[in-house]
Amino acid sequence: MKTIRSVSELRDALREHRRAGHRIGLVPTMGAFHEGHLSLMRRAREQSDVVVVSLFVNPAQFNEATDLDAYPHDEARDAALADELGVDFLFAPPAGEVYPPGFATKVVISGITETLEGEHRGRAHFDGVTTVVAKLFNMVGPDVAYFGQKDAQQARIVKQLVRDLDMPLRIEVCETVRERDGLAMSSRNVLLSAEERHRAAALNRALEAIDRGYASGSRDPAELIRQARAELEAAGIEPDYLELVSPATLAPLAEVNGEALALVAARVGKTRLIDNHRIGSDAGPRAPATQHRH
Ligand code: PAF
Repeated sequence: MKTIRSVSELRDALREHRRAGHRIGLVPTMGAFHEGHLSLMRRAREQSDVVVVSLFVNPAQFNEATDLDAYPHDEARDAALADELGVDFLFAPPAGEVYPPGFATKVVISGITETLEGEHRGRAHFDGVTTVVAKLFNMVGPDVAYFGQKDAQQARIVKQLVRDLDMPLRIEVCETVRERDGLAMSSRNVLLSAEERHRAAALNRALEAIDRGYASGSRDPAELIRQARAELEAAGIEPDYLELVSPATLAPLAEVNGEALALVAARVGKTRLIDNHRIGSDAGPRAPATQHRH
């Protein structure tokens, strides 16, 4: 695996592959790899001739300087993991390569960016995501880019970006990978104390309460959410949001008929976590622990 720092070096490395018609897969990341990232890389490896993993902790999408400072970072460990999985190129540019002096462009999507994470983290969060993702797509020119279902709103927004700007690539959304107790894997999990880590599993339990309510015939979002909220309360967790929305519009549902997305965000101690389950879809039965997917 080769680590690349500049856009020109990246273009040089990919030119021959593009000319030969090789299929290029991109896994955009902010590093601190966990099994969720690795599952995206494995999928990319299966489906592509050339796998590029980008590693860039994008300052533009952090609404709190303390969150950016605390974000875990270990490039040597990440590079070793990516290399083991057969990734071809680790694109890890410095901030000045992505945002050179005089940088003045923003990619802004309206509507679906303004609710849920957009409402709680502020407008700038998704503006930062869409801007950097558009740049990464332009830099790499992938045929397919891989995103995790854990960031369901982000995945929905990236699909909108690609559709609205006629970007010539496919977005593949891969299932959430979970710890044994159901906690969705996240780079932020390492920031939890042992006691917080234990309580954090309540996020998935809350979503499971919605699954159970739905399976037993309840279609009333308020009732389903009440059951889920009880799980969070028992763990001493007050959510930023706990909502049932349309997967297409991300608007709250008056009734759960057909596909829905149950989303939760909460701080456990100082660490903010998010998770979601698809409801009423063909998400299938839950897979076994540690490869537990939705
Ligand atoms: O999901 C992430 O890690 C980031 O939001 C992304 C897509 C790499 C953009 O910085």
